[in-house]
Amino acid sequence: MADVLKTIQQRRSTRVPFDPNRPVSKENLRQILEAARWAPTAHNMQNFEVLVVNDKKILEKIGNIKSRVSEAFIRENYEQMSFSEEELLQKKVGIISTNFPPDWRDPDKLDKAVRETASSPLNQRLAGSPTLLIVIYDSRKRAPASEGDVLGFISLGCVMENMWLAANSLGISVHILSVFSGDVVQKAVKQILKVPEYMKIAFAIRLGYAVSNQPGNLRVRRDMEMFTHHNQFGNKGLR
Ligand SMILES: Cc1cc2nc3c(=O)[nH]c(=O)nc-3n(C[C@H](O)[C@H](O)[C@H](O)COP(=O)(O)O)c2cc1C
Repeated sequence: MADVLKTIQQRRSTRVPFDPNRPVSKENLRQILEAARWAPTAHNMQNFEVLVVNDKKILEKIGNIKSRVSEAFIRENYEQMSFSEEELLQKKVGIISTNFPPDWRDPDKLDKAVRETASSPLNQRLAGSPTLLIVIYDSRKRAPASEGDVLGFISLGCVMENMWLAANSLGISVHILSVFSGDVVQKAVKQILKVPEYMKIAFAIRLGYAVSNQPGNLRVRRDMEMFTHHNQFGNKGLR
């Protein structure tokens, strides 16, 4: 148990560039895929496919796709942002502002940021990654009576977590890229990788070895007592 908990606690997002010349080995990829294989899924429907991309030319093509951050993201991101480590430590949820461009952190410049945030090539987000895992959702494998396939989406989260824990425990950095599920990127990536029309990209995982330490490293979580209720909602904590 101590080992499992340690692996869970040490799992983390790495948003700094990765070394493009240090690929993830086939053996390690197999271990990460083995972790995906054993993920729990609703009704054991295994509603996912994983596309491993480590061909430089294909990565380059994906990197050339342009996308634009949405107004909703910029505005809602501002609402949850912490502006200092002290604030983040107090709030215990969300992300520190230093992870985002200066204009996104200034309430007087938000409108400008929304107006002027231009589309940029995905390359900036891939940041040198030698390997991408693209997790594809197969809606045909819906669990019985799963309305809106909510259970299917939860299952994809289990796949994500299993691969993340496996990668981090192998010393491989992970960065989840939700941008791959957005309409524009999704369409272009599906075309490049010949993904069938009826399938959807759920998310991508940037895998590799970080070239530097991450600034704004503070990670926070709510205390157990803040989300645990005992025998009745509102009886906070484990009594
Ligand atoms: C479903 C999901 C989608 C996420 N999408 C992104 C993303 O697009 N970009 C990103 O930098 N991090 C993304 N993350 C990572 C979270 O921001 C991160 O897990 C959270 O801030 C906690 O930090 P930690 O992973 O270092 O513990 C995502 C995580 C999950 C579970």
